[in-house]
Amino acid sequence: MENSVFVQRRQQLIAALKPGSVALLSAASEQSRSRDTEYPFRQHSDFWYYSGFNEPDALLIITNRADLPAVQLLCREKDPAQEVWHGRRLGPAVAAEQLQLQAVALSEKSQLLQQAINGSTAVYLHLTESSALLQQVTEQMQHLKQREKRGDKAPSQLIDLAPVTAEKRLVKDQNEIAIMRRAGQISAEAHSRAMQLCRPGRFEYQLEAEILHHFAMNGARHPAYNSIVGSGDNGCILHYTANSSELKAGDLVLIDAGCELAGYAADISRTFPVSGKFSKAQAELYQLVLDAQYAACNAVAPGSNFAKVTAAAEQVLTEGLLGLGILQGELEQLISDKACKQYFIHGIGHWLGLDVHDVGAYKIAGAAGDMAEQPFVPGMVLTIEPGLYIPAGSPTDRCWWDLAIRIEDNLLVTAEGHDNLTTGVPKEIEAIEQLMAAADAGN
Ligand code: GLY
Ligand code: MN
Ligand code: MN
Repeated sequence: MENSVFVQRRQQLIAALKPGSVALLSAASEQSRSRDTEYPFRQHSDFWYYSGFNEPDALLIITNRADLPAVQLLCREKDPAQEVWHGRRLGPAVAAEQLQLQAVALSEKSQLLQQAINGSTAVYLHLTESSALLQQVTEQMQHLKQREKRGDKAPSQLIDLAPVTAEKRLVKDQNEIAIMRRAGQISAEAHSRAMQLCRPGRFEYQLEAEILHHFAMNGARHPAYNSIVGSGDNGCILHYTANSSELKAGDLVLIDAGCELAGYAADISRTFPVSGKFSKAQAELYQLVLDAQYAACNAVAPGSNFAKVTAAAEQVLTEGLLGLGILQGELEQLISDKACKQYFIHGIGHWLGLDVHDVGAYKIAGAAGDMAEQPFVPGMVLTIEPGLYIPAGSPTDRCWWDLAIRIEDNLLVTAEGHDNLTTGVPKEIEAIEQLMAAADAGN
């Protein structure tokens, strides 16, 4: 992403602060995996959104006060001995030049933090994440309060920065859309490759490996979240990530995987038969989820909202479950009872962006002060992911037991309606079977 994008975001934040206020953002820290090895570093999404700086343990100070620099980045100093072991650091001088901001050494932190807090009207920071920064700020404010007779001034307000930033992140600009479109393409191709590699006797983690390989070979080193490859009854576990079972002929396999590209997530689910051909029961249930997914996607347009999309999917699912004899009763009653939720056990979708379950309110204050649905506007990106999960022992015919199906795409809201960013992997029964048969023939 061009550095000018981050500069512009900081300017927008400065304009949104109350007069004479300061915003503080902490970078993420490295997380221990075992003894002295760490998980791959992932920057805090909001910190990244405003800084474009990908190192741990930094602090960003942004203010509209005339007596302070508008933007200061506090970061680790250059240290050849540390860098030869643990990797390169930009250091304040290079960071300042590259990121177009003022940068100083992290060792100045307590002094600069005190300077930023003292005399500010309000301090904006993340209040719902427990952080060392929040504790430091609170302690500083108490300290300043005790010293007011000496001319210090404690801010009168602590304001949560998270919703301020969430509102901005909810609507994506052209740069973000371009990245997310590419993340969707790469992830769709990876799913297609997993379908082609799938055979009875292979293991779930081998499909995962194929997907991760394709991500990395296309510039996305990491997945946006731990990939889910659940065959048979493993598919009924929503966040199944063990991915350890052998793939068995006759089972379905549910894959939920997406890459992270330049910080942005894709989030695709597909479900297909291990041996390449759906059984009659599998095909009937699959087609129902697919019909519900189309109905929900068709309801995505400016002015629509998640409640409308949910209603569209639930209407189709309930009619279909009644038709298949999985639910019994009277249609209108079953819809108003939300009877399909027995098997459709999660929401229809979520916002997508720097986080896979991205920030952004689902409900907003309505005209009468009540809470109303957040209306879709062009630039929002969201998932549509209906699913049905029928574990063994469910009050249905046994032919449905252990079937787990989810179909998930990523949709950009456009002025005309929507643009599906993840059409690069098939979801029609015939197209999936053809792709898998062609792969079989080639081996
Ligand atoms: N991969 C998590 C989700 O689909 O929400
Ligand atoms: Mn998903
Ligand atoms: Mn999702």
